[in-house]
Amino acid sequence: MDKTFSQEDLNAVIRQHSEWLAAQLHSQRASLFPPNATKNMRKFTSGEAASLLGVNDSYLRKLHLDGKGPSPETTPGNRRLYSTEDIQALRVLLEKTARKVGDYLPGRRDGDHMQIIGVMNFKGGSGKTTTSAHLAQRLALRGYRVLAIDLDPQASLTALHGVQPEFDLVDGGTLYDAIRYDNPVPIRDVIRETYIPNLDLIPGNLELMEFEHDTPRALSQGNAGLFFFRVKEALAQIDDSYDVVVIDCPPQLGFLTMSALSAATGVLVTIHPEMLDVMSMSQFLRMTADLMDVIAESGADMSHDWMRYLLTRYEPSDAPQNRIVAFLRTMYGDKVLNAQMLKSTAISDAGLTKQTLYEVERSAFTRSTYDRAIESMNAVNDEIAQLIQQTWGRK
Ligand SMILES: Nc1ncnc2c1ncn2[C@@H]1O[C@H](COP(=O)(O)OP(=O)(O)OP(=O)(O)O)[C@@H](O)[C@H]1O
Ligand SMILES: [Mg+2]
Repeated sequence: MDKTFSQEDLNAVIRQHSEWLAAQLHSQRASLFPPNATKNMRKFTSGEAASLLGVNDSYLRKLHLDGKGPSPETTPGNRRLYSTEDIQALRVLLEKTARKVGDYLPGRRDGDHMQIIGVMNFKGGSGKTTTSAHLAQRLALRGYRVLAIDLDPQASLTALHGVQPEFDLVDGGTLYDAIRYDNPVPIRDVIRETYIPNLDLIPGNLELMEFEHDTPRALSQGNAGLFFFRVKEALAQIDDSYDVVVIDCPPQLGFLTMSALSAATGVLVTIHPEMLDVMSMSQFLRMTADLMDVIAESGADMSHDWMRYLLTRYEPSDAPQNRIVAFLRTMYGDKVLNAQMLKSTAISDAGLTKQTLYEVERSAFTRSTYDRAIESMNAVNDEIAQLIQQTWGRK
């Protein structure tokens, strides 16, 4: 008789496969990311820099000719290229002589509370990570102090920012360290700077799963406290340091997502407008509402400043998608952001090289492709920035 496939065999196979894969990834990483390689942000044309600063290109040129502010790099063709550091220095300079406080530095002022934006949907691939990464980067480029948190054990947001979840975090360093029930560390210990000024990151990796396992245990032992406030309480330690926190949630409604939901002041639900996605969303919304009821029953305040749906990977030429978009807009009205994230090869190709649209060079794409994608992405992010500004009581 044939030997049956025993548990042990399966273990051995899985272990072997894991080792092979790790070795392959190691050597890939060695060639793609030499040991000390770090990611860099590209430089921006004078037009892009002016737009990020909210001034005219000619005004930026005048500042340059007058020798005010940082000296941008000039190309042989005499074009000016600004680094993100240059842009930030210019912003600070412009703010000093601004007519109104905050004309150039859009972040919090006295009395404004930190915005914590949870990007969620339990549907995998609905665009949560793409949205989180572009939102966090765009806000940082516009002068907000931003903290991006990867709450997904799959750690795509982390990898996108040049941190290798399986190699760089072997000794911990994810949010789990700061929200665990036994000996949590101060949240500052897990924050790292990125290659983008104004943007810090708390990376994630599989260790975050521990929170899903620990919580039921802590609950049964009666020492979980208000477990859904673990993230909120950790963030309270750094309330003075950021204007906006962007949390990329995992594709499930577990304890991590619940904690993000409890911490959030704004909730962004990403929807890819296809029938299967929309059907599962109905379930997601009902389960979320049930969970929020449970949390509210324990006396927690579950009010949020805002909640919006964002249409992602949208193809305007696709008739069935259009029907779904029309139907969602009719049903949910202004809860659906006007701007929508178009599907674009510029976005998916950038993702393949672990970059966002803000990091890739425009010259790497057909101009119209790149321009269409970035216009849609900026429109989405700027609409969210407006919500943030409104929450702070500004126009
Ligand atoms: N606007 C877009 N145009 C083209 N491709 C996109 C777009 N948005 C996302 N993608 C691609 O779709 C895939 C899924 O996107 P993403 O990782 O952002 O989804 P997610 O909701 O975070 O997924 P998960 O649930 O697994 O975390 C990625 O390969 C990404 O590059
Ligand atoms: Mg993701």
